[in-house]
Amino acid sequence: MCGIIGYIGKSSPIDVLIEGLKNLEYRGYDSAGIAVKNKEEVQKVKSVGKIANLEEKINNTKLIDSNLGIAHTRWATHGSPTEINAHPHTVGNVTIVHNGIIENAEELRKKLEKENIKFNSETDTEVIAVLINKYYKDNELEAIKKALKELKGSYALGILFSGSDKLYTTRKDSPLIVGIGKNENFIASDIAAIINYTNKYILLEEGEIGEITKDKVVIYKDNKIIKKDILETDISADAKDKCGYDHYMLKEIMEEPIVLEKTFKPYLKDLSLLPNLTQYEEIHIVACGSAMYAGLIGSSLLEEFANIRVYVEVASEYRYKNIVYNKKTLVILISQSGETADTIAAMRMAKDAGIDTLAIVNVKTSTIARESDKQVFIEAGPEIAVATTKAYILQAGILSLLAYKTAKDKNLIKEDIIKEVKKLPRLLKEVLDRREEYLEIAKSIYKKDNIFFIGRKIDYSICMEGSLKLKEVSYIHSEAYQAGELKHGTISLINDGYPVFAIITDDKVKDKTISNVEEVISRGADVIIISNEKIANYKKQVIVPKINSFMQPLLVVPTLQLIAYEVAKLRNCDIDKPKNLAKSVTVE
Ligand code: F6R
Repeated sequence: MCGIIGYIGKSSPIDVLIEGLKNLEYRGYDSAGIAVKNKEEVQKVKSVGKIANLEEKINNTKLIDSNLGIAHTRWATHGSPTEINAHPHTVGNVTIVHNGIIENAEELRKKLEKENIKFNSETDTEVIAVLINKYYKDNELEAIKKALKELKGSYALGILFSGSDKLYTTRKDSPLIVGIGKNENFIASDIAAIINYTNKYILLEEGEIGEITKDKVVIYKDNKIIKKDILETDISADAKDKCGYDHYMLKEIMEEPIVLEKTFKPYLKDLSLLPNLTQYEEIHIVACGSAMYAGLIGSSLLEEFANIRVYVEVASEYRYKNIVYNKKTLVILISQSGETADTIAAMRMAKDAGIDTLAIVNVKTSTIARESDKQVFIEAGPEIAVATTKAYILQAGILSLLAYKTAKDKNLIKEDIIKEVKKLPRLLKEVLDRREEYLEIAKSIYKKDNIFFIGRKIDYSICMEGSLKLKEVSYIHSEAYQAGELKHGTISLINDGYPVFAIITDDKVKDKTISNVEEVISRGADVIIISNEKIANYKKQVIVPKINSFMQPLLVVPTLQLIAYEVAKLRNCDIDKPKNLAKSVTVE
């Protein structure tokens, strides 16, 4: 969701900015722009749509000589995706790019209009530029500080002043790092955007302002210069490569066995490295989208095997509820990016109430990783495709291990699954290698308008993720339904040839779901069964290897991910960047 890149160095910023924008494309955007600056002037180029449009415009523009620039991909919030609303925005001596949302923008705009200030765009960003410009006499830092005092909401900013040859930056509730190079420095929404230039970076904390030249980065906090650690990322430059795959989504699904092995490795040696949950009477799992669906897998297993009541809630709802906490409650936050605005807000709400928080998170430097009380990291590496696949598998996987450990700690189960879990990466690879089979299924459904996924208990949780994956990448409407609920209304939608995926892995409810399958078949449905054993003589079945209940979903969801991928491919969809979606939802 919006991306920022900035460069100051020894040569023209154009290549770095364009490459950076391309690396940030995965976050989702609908317009883009750059500003380059030298002593005399600031020059901007903006365009609506893909970065390729911007690139073409840049190639047809005579650009000024420069070694300083900022660039932005915008995912429209205030104002439609037009060239005027695209960033950078210039007001007087100030040019800025902004990620985040200024919540009091309307109020500030009205106030500033009374001072006869005219606005060009509909954006909240222009309000920031107006304020900084208003306070700018000859001291850049003072102008930024005064403007920030008036803002409510979230921001990551890249700022240029016409009277200065420095690059300025600051942030609140929106991610931003300062990349450290040799005779060149950067700002970026994430380190992956500049990984071809440097793996060293500074994490800017809230309230800090960065003043950057080509060979110096000075960070200010409360009028003082502060010392910051220079961190190094272990992301390698080729992590951003598609490695021969047509799409990142496919590459990332295929990486699942490797990243699962890496994530599980320490815990399979020593399960006690995972947090002890036995002191909690109640768990709230709070997350958004697929991360929340991974939470549903965890809740099924924790309730079934570890006897803990678990509530799973969408973070955007949870944060506004009146939650009555029991002191023995644990709040588990799940997030790949660690920057999802609603999940951050839910975490802070729990912390303010004095409740323990545990994060299951991929990005180690993210806000959720830094602010939660305890963390379990998944080792997904960079996930570029907007639709999550490998991170979901790891989130569900860690929760499954946690459920197993808690059941063991409470002496509720005797079974030892560790030996079997060690085989999981190999079994998963076998499942992923059956792409031909999934393509055949995809061919039979890709022209349909509506699809159902049905299942019971943990199989229903799997359905939720299968349905989301299909609709977000293929744009086919689909719905996940508890198999037993169909009769209460939804079954009226079933008619001849209506595709219904039935997930049947949970032995306790297998027969029940099979009865529901019969009900939809007798109304004409085209049923595709995904199970861990052959079910009667149904025509279309995908049979995945049978494994213990804790790990079974991890062998089923990948088949649904690959089917969603193949369907989207047959429909010529923009698989890695589905329309209207952003990878990291850093605004409410
Ligand atoms: C769907 C998807 C989203 C994310 C959700 C949470 O494929 O990727 O539903 O799971 O936006 O994002 P994180 O995990 O970054 O908090």
